[in-house]
Amino acid sequence: MKKGDYLIDPWASSTVDYDKLVNQFGIKKFSEILPQIINPGRLMRRGVVFGHRDFEKINNLINTDKEFTVVTGMMPSGQMHIGHKMVVDQLKWYLDKGAILSLPIADMESYAARGINFETAKDIAINEYLSNYIALGLDLNHKNVNVYLQSQNELLKDLTFKLSKKTNFNELKSIYGFSPSTNFAHLYAPLIQVADILFPQIEEMGGPKRVVVPVGIDQDPHIRLTRDIAEKMNDDLSFISPSSTYHRFLTGLTGDKMSSSKPKTAIYLNESPEIAEKKVKTAKTGGRESLEEQKKLGGNPDQCVVYEMLVYHLIDDDKELKKIYDSCKDGSLLCGECKGRTSELMKKLFEDLSKKQEDSREIAKNLI
Ligand code: TRP
Ligand code: SF4
Repeated sequence: MKKGDYLIDPWASSTVDYDKLVNQFGIKKFSEILPQIINPGRLMRRGVVFGHRDFEKINNLINTDKEFTVVTGMMPSGQMHIGHKMVVDQLKWYLDKGAILSLPIADMESYAARGINFETAKDIAINEYLSNYIALGLDLNHKNVNVYLQSQNELLKDLTFKLSKKTNFNELKSIYGFSPSTNFAHLYAPLIQVADILFPQIEEMGGPKRVVVPVGIDQDPHIRLTRDIAEKMNDDLSFISPSSTYHRFLTGLTGDKMSSSKPKTAIYLNESPEIAEKKVKTAKTGGRESLEEQKKLGGNPDQCVVYEMLVYHLIDDDKELKKIYDSCKDGSLLCGECKGRTSELMKKLFEDLSKKQEDSREIAKNLI
């Protein structure tokens, strides 16, 4: 196999063929299970959440009002951008459905993979991640929410050590492409993440239970490793294989992947409403070369970053969204007007965010 054929590298930004992943790795199409979900969230309805493993097991619990747990982590490195909002929106939906949320802050991973020290990582976690999670409307003080730093969770570290017995270098190499010169901290990082995912099931946390992990598709290698290890654990420490869902990446303003380290591609959550508004206006559209052509042939919303922002973040009402889609296609809506409206909505979102950010920071400080 060629490298690109099978490897999704969770520590690199790569472009992704979603359909291929669904076919190759046994990820199921989310659209097939969608009709069974009661009041699916916006990202589910719109196909942004495109794949899953074993989500039907979680959905059965939701539909019968039974308890389940959601695990998803944040690696504190760099700034949060609007692409990261997708996880927060899903967590809000799950919390409404009665879930318990277990939210690790992956400071050991950012140490291993990005060379960020623990103190800095904690700072970034508070000031960037947790405070924005709160400002975006997730109640981290809710009794069902558990936030922790990997480096401070002794039970997690014990679990990491124990489950390390059930994998070996060859497996890690085949999943991640590790080589003999990969340092041990980096080898260890995915094992800590496996522990994050299995952590809610240890005896101290109440024993085996159903867990779902909503993540971007780049995290699937960790899910595969976790499911493999979970199955190999014995009676002493037994786990139910976790379910997972996968969402698409948000396209960057330039048309490439949105990336924290490339300011031209991203709208950062700590940017001012005016900058956010301006950045929308720089986004790549699916518009035609000339106005005449667009009026005649229509635009291409499926290839348009502006439209994607409406879909992912800015318009709740499906009917209103469809109207924009149709009027783009039939040439009656032109990019100038459409960008104007979208940037206005983005500005509003950011005005709301910036109002909440300061108070949120105070709350975030007391969480970890
Ligand atoms: N590796 C994830 C990231 O890069 C963060 C993470 C840590 C995580 N532990 C997790 C994600 C557990 C899902 C479940 O963002
Ligand atoms: Fe995109 Fe709007 Fe232009 Fe259509 S009209 S291509 S949705 S910016």
